[in-house]
Amino acid sequence: MISSALLSTFHLFALAIGLPAVVMRGKALKELQTNPAALERVFFADNLWGIAAILWIATGLFRAFGSFEKGSGYYLHSGTFLLKMGLFAVLFSLELLPMITFIKWRIAQSKGQPIDTSRAGLFFKLNTAEVVLTIAMPFFASMMARGIGFGWFG
Ligand code: HEM
Repeated sequence: MISSALLSTFHLFALAIGLPAVVMRGKALKELQTNPAALERVFFADNLWGIAAILWIATGLFRAFGSFEKGSGYYLHSGTFLLKMGLFAVLFSLELLPMITFIKWRIAQSKGQPIDTSRAGLFFKLNTAEVVLTIAMPFFASMMARGIGFGWFG
């Protein structure tokens, strides 16, 4: 019971950290198009976004496939859980290019090499789509928790 409550708490902490982080990263990416000094804020927000992602995935997988909540049989038959995971998969794929690029930027910065931020505008657009998905996911999460969508896809 207590472990289930703790997993739920940390899953919600991920949202409390992740949503402001991805909004902040978008703001910094927008500014980066004209001001190179915004790079530090991109990295800071990206660190928080990374922490939120780890918390989300770790606690989410334990909740879905561990014996803390309704059991994997329930979730795998919940249409709203599958839709939530679909949104998560889209979010994750949108994040791949920025994630790889920001790692390269960090390596370049640590070596004192120049950083090409010319694609900041593209990353801003991808980030905006990620903000929308992050806001959409709790709607599906709340529905799946209440049995809405059970058996939709068999
Ligand atoms: C690998 C990723 C994830 C998995 C496997 C996962 C799985 C779960 C599970 C099993 C629950 C418990 C539902 C219940 O009480 O029966 C839950 C709740 C919840 N999840 Fe996730 N989740 C993931 C990512 C996310 C993300 C990215 C968000 C937000 C953007 C999110 C938002 C929520 C919310 C708000 C709840 C609480 C719903 C409620 O009790 O009303 N989850 N999640």
